[in-house]
Amino acid sequence: MTSKKEVRILLVGDPGVGKTSLILTLVSEEFPDEVPAKAEEITIPADVTPERVPTHIVDYSSQEQDEDVLQEELSKSNVVCIIYSVDDDDSIERITSYWLPYIRNHLGEDHKTPVILVGNKCDLMDFSTEEVMRPIMNDFAEVETCVECSARTLKNISEMFYYAQKAVLHPTAAVYNSEEKELTLQCKKALTRIFKICDLDNDSILNDDEVNLFQLKCFHAPLHAQSLEDVKAIVKRNISDGVVNNGLSLKGFLFLHTLFIQRGRHETTWTVLRAFGYDDNLQLTKEYLSPKIHVGLGCTTELSFQGLQFLKILFQKYDEDNDGHLSPPELQNLFSTCPMMPWGPDVNNTVCTNHTGWISLHGYLAQWELTTLLDVPRTIEYLAYLGYRYLNDSQLSAVTVTRDKKIDLEKKQTSRNVFRCHVLGAKGVGKTSLLQGHLNRNLRYVATLNKEHLSSFTINTVQVYGQEKYLLLHEVDVAVSDMLNPTEMNCDVACLVYDVTNPRTFEFCARMYLKHFLDSRIPTLVVACKTEHPAIRQDYIMTPAQFCNKYKLPPPQSFTCIDKVNKEVYIKLATMAAYPHVREIISRDEKFYLKIGLVTALLAGLGFLAYRMTRSSS
Ligand code: GTP
Ligand code: MG
Repeated sequence: MTSKKEVRILLVGDPGVGKTSLILTLVSEEFPDEVPAKAEEITIPADVTPERVPTHIVDYSSQEQDEDVLQEELSKSNVVCIIYSVDDDDSIERITSYWLPYIRNHLGEDHKTPVILVGNKCDLMDFSTEEVMRPIMNDFAEVETCVECSARTLKNISEMFYYAQKAVLHPTAAVYNSEEKELTLQCKKALTRIFKICDLDNDSILNDDEVNLFQLKCFHAPLHAQSLEDVKAIVKRNISDGVVNNGLSLKGFLFLHTLFIQRGRHETTWTVLRAFGYDDNLQLTKEYLSPKIHVGLGCTTELSFQGLQFLKILFQKYDEDNDGHLSPPELQNLFSTCPMMPWGPDVNNTVCTNHTGWISLHGYLAQWELTTLLDVPRTIEYLAYLGYRYLNDSQLSAVTVTRDKKIDLEKKQTSRNVFRCHVLGAKGVGKTSLLQGHLNRNLRYVATLNKEHLSSFTINTVQVYGQEKYLLLHEVDVAVSDMLNPTEMNCDVACLVYDVTNPRTFEFCARMYLKHFLDSRIPTLVVACKTEHPAIRQDYIMTPAQFCNKYKLPPPQSFTCIDKVNKEVYIKLATMAAYPHVREIISRDEKFYLKIGLVTALLAGLGFLAYRMTRSSS
């Protein structure tokens, strides 16, 4: 539950206040009449401490030790108890004149080591020193709490050590500002994220079912119906809009946690924070955000069914007007549990949107597939922010690692759903239009787009033999040297584009093919763009058709997007990516698509329906 593996408590204070007696009393449960100047360091095993964390207790005696040792111990300790004697005014005065400044001087003005003020020998006095301690607590934020006890009568001895342990394991300073008497900003932020994740229907209220689930997830036990009513009654009594429509509002939720902390029940709030991945400084832990995923050579990463399901439900949760698209505020809201917006304005030109540029469910899922393929750690991290782990186990279940592509090639079949196509071509041949056409956008529409927000990626689904596959197009900028680095070569299919109206553009395709793809196993498609115009003879030793024939490539695929986008090209690219072994056959027998389509569909057990789909898409 906690990030601390052990607790180290140091006792300091003036000579004779009873430090050694306190420690020995705790251990033996009786007051020793005679004590040495300094007790040996003792370790209390985890199973006998209330918080189940091994605890070391360290004594200090100025009679036996010098300041070097004290300073070293201060640095090592997780919590410091300043002991004073309630019957000794000097020892009280020295808390503020000596000990607290001394600790600050050594650990730094804003040190985070909590301090507990312990008034010993309360058996000797009838009145309490609590009133004297209160202003000290206000002046020194590091003072967590104060407690009076007696080694002689054993009063509050175990309590004192429990407070010390708690101060370490459930640090107040991170969650509560005792001067302002309210939750820290960081804590409010964390609890707000938690509230949003738990508010499954996004109505800004935690209804009884949502509270119960929350309780179960955080505390592994349900909340009794009566307790839930009691909690709501308390909130209602204290703040006006803490309970709305018989459910907890965010305000009510935050109030409840303020109350827990004010009543010394920090552990409740901390249990909640830890269940949602926060460490002692209210940062999400690395372990929570980034569980290690192993992706072998030749393997790719895609969203699993479980991952897609989570993202779909998330979309529906935030599509408040149910129009199947996320408006900018809806999108902002969806990512409000994340430290920042993961998608920039170019995302609207990477995936399908409506005419206003709002992202559709289809486009939203495609963008997630893109991130998962290109940058899986980012998907995993964002799923954590979004609360994937609240209803699922680790984010790793949201991702499928595909098998090595080599095995796919050997077995001549693949279960992958996302394929990567690199688009190369000389300047101005129409690569961007080809990419945008993948999103069903014609030239007229592309002309209206803000050029600054154009993306070098587009992703959309394509029917391959009746099965839906994602095809990611990536426009690769080829360096002046014509070189392609390994990432630029890492694709399932290459698309070499030339412009039928510009005689100097095919040469680039031929050069790229001979240099990079001829000896690779990457299937390649030559695409002739702007075919609404008549083709001009290309300045090259062969015509494009002769070139393709010579190298057993499919014949040049013509493409136009002036008005209606010619979508054949995307189907071809996706099919070549998914079935690279049919490379030679395609060029001779286009009908082969249909035949293999039937076989695949039957093999996939999709039967007649899939066969019909194949026919309509080819
Ligand atoms: P140094 O090691 O010199 O810094 O002192 P210390 O803080 O360890 O004090 P120590 O435990 O040696 O106790 C000092 C005296 O106070 C002893 O005579 C103890 O018997 C007595 N004493 C300690 N605790 C209590 C207590 O709770 N009540 C009373 N009445 N006397 C106590
Ligand atoms: Mg001592």
